[in-house]
Amino acid sequence: MSYLVLARKWRPQSFDTMTGQEHIVRTLANAIAQGRVAHAYLFCGPRGVGKTTAARLLARALNCEKGPTSTPCGECLACREIVAGTSLDVAEIDGASNNGVEDVRQIRERVTYLPQRDRHKIYIIDEVHMLTTQAFNALLKTLEEPPAHVKFIFATTEPHKLPDTILSRCQRHNFRRIPAGSMAKRLTEILREEGAQFSDRAISLVVRQSEGGMRDALSMLDMVLSACGKAPTDEEVAEALGAIDRGAALNLCAALIHRDAAAVLTQVEALHCRGVDFKRLIEELTLQLRHLLVARSVGDPAARREALSELADSERESIEALARDVDPAQIARLFDIVHGATWEISRAAQPRLATEVTLLKCVHLAPSQPMSAMIARVEEIARRLGGAEGAAAAQTRPLRPFH
Ligand SMILES: Nc1ncnc2c1ncn2[C@@H]1O[C@H](COP(=O)(O)OP(=O)(O)OP(=O)(O)O)[C@@H](O)[C@H]1O
Ligand SMILES: [Mg+2]
Ligand SMILES: [Zn+2]
Repeated sequence: MSYLVLARKWRPQSFDTMTGQEHIVRTLANAIAQGRVAHAYLFCGPRGVGKTTAARLLARALNCEKGPTSTPCGECLACREIVAGTSLDVAEIDGASNNGVEDVRQIRERVTYLPQRDRHKIYIIDEVHMLTTQAFNALLKTLEEPPAHVKFIFATTEPHKLPDTILSRCQRHNFRRIPAGSMAKRLTEILREEGAQFSDRAISLVVRQSEGGMRDALSMLDMVLSACGKAPTDEEVAEALGAIDRGAALNLCAALIHRDAAAVLTQVEALHCRGVDFKRLIEELTLQLRHLLVARSVGDPAARREALSELADSERESIEALARDVDPAQIARLFDIVHGATWEISRAAQPRLATEVTLLKCVHLAPSQPMSAMIARVEEIARRLGGAEGAAAAQTRPLRPFH
């Protein structure tokens, strides 16, 4: 059998295996159950989050021999043909290459005929925003009152390019970027089925790089699997993706917190050798400092887990461990310095140098001390100078400003 990329191999074959679009799946399933299916749907959202997949599933749901049903059987001729893209009653049209008036005119003529075999004639138009103005105009009438056997499903990443007249004739569903937790779960399942072993950190890195796009995430897994085999180390995954692994960023944070200049320099050197983009490194550091501050500030474990939900469990544990003994004021100041330098580093002629100096400034940050500790020290000094009386006096005497 020829090799199928993961994204195609793992295209969800049922609504309940679609990840992260529960709000849409629920609405569609209810509409099917109640026989209230609209005649035109518009699926909007970023790339690779399930628009085409959902359109094909909806087509199967409507035309399955055992349907209409939100759980199409996948076995009848209608279901199988839709999956294979050979159904005569379901047309999948690429809006980018069939965007003219003539193309729409053909659709208009065909919709008047009854379906060849199945319940509905379904037109899935992908990239629908590519249609020309005339094509949209030609579509309006049909979209307003299509014959009862016709359904339209439009998909686009750029709904703002659609005329209001089209928007107002469709039932719109906004697909969202897939939340990190759900995506990690799905990737873990797929990798298990594929017999591959990734640490939860490696998966979390892929999730983050994909920015909520499942297709992108799966393509990255393809790439890592072919570059590094089925049991890559975290560093290998990071390297294959040209990413900064969180472990490295977190180690750097630890060096900053412990004011360890030597460690800072060694790590910057190591990252430099790996060809890391320093702007991305600084962004990652900023993010880690945010996580540290959250970990230090939110006492309730459940709330903390929620606030750090984008992290893998083991990553969260490392952050919590590091945050435990740190003064929150110190993290806040580190954040200010690192975040404040982002812009400069991104435009610096020598980004590595700019990064090093920024981080060394962090190392030299004067230790901040809580007010109570300072008062205790003043009292201690006063006591040593003048006995108990002196201490009492130090407490009552107004503070004089320094000159
Ligand atoms: N919500 C999801 N749940 C599970 N897998 C998904 C999801 N969204 C996308 N995928 C995976 O990504 C692949 C591509 O998804 P799909 O073609 O539905 O994306 P799309 O939103 O239509 O993207 P585009 O805007 O690029 O056309 C699918 O084959 C599937 O493997
Ligand atoms: Mg698509
Ligand atoms: Zn079926």
